[in-house]
Amino acid sequence: MYNDLEKILFTAEEITEKVKGAADWLDKKYSAAQSMPLAVCVLKGSVFFFCDLVRAMRTPVQLDFMTISSYGNGTVSSGKIKIVSDLAASVDGRDVIIIEDIVDTGRTLAGLKRLLFSRGAKSVACVVLADKPSRRETDVNADYRCFTVGDEFIVGYGLDYAQKYRNLPCIGVLKDEIYR
Ligand code: IMP
Ligand code: MG
Repeated sequence: MYNDLEKILFTAEEITEKVKGAADWLDKKYSAAQSMPLAVCVLKGSVFFFCDLVRAMRTPVQLDFMTISSYGNGTVSSGKIKIVSDLAASVDGRDVIIIEDIVDTGRTLAGLKRLLFSRGAKSVACVVLADKPSRRETDVNADYRCFTVGDEFIVGYGLDYAQKYRNLPCIGVLKDEIYR
């Protein structure tokens, strides 16, 4: 897998450091919460980020999972969100924390936020591993981001290209000959 990378952007150690920062931010934000927030793992891309993040928190959170697909096998967003598997919990009246891998055009996040509010969520906060602000096509933004990246396709630590590279422990830029 490493041979397919143009460069390594963030090492496992750097990721751990940033995840700790995100956990501290969430702990502060929800320290006085009346009821337990619902942490939503947006599968599959945020699987490792989610697991590391919730375990770095000191605030109790309920865990839930949702599989959303927007990309097919390409590197450009199809712009529609498709719920492949839904949450088990009701979000009605809850403080919800969306834990996402990356915000690119922002369509997925915008669609997901709209959905959660339409189901009665009291509040929705979004924590993302990586943000690609230069590619935004909506006015939606993460409330907390660990890394900001340029207009390049990144893989690793959950992020894939055609379902591959998710299990790389670091985050890197894929050589463009791989997806050209
Ligand atoms: P958006 O709807 O355009 O914001 O796309 C968000 C989704 O596209 C993310 O949840 C990822 O699954 C995928 N995505 C966007 N950019 C990348 C990337 O650089 N590497 C891997 N997946 C990406
Ligand atoms: Mg995703």
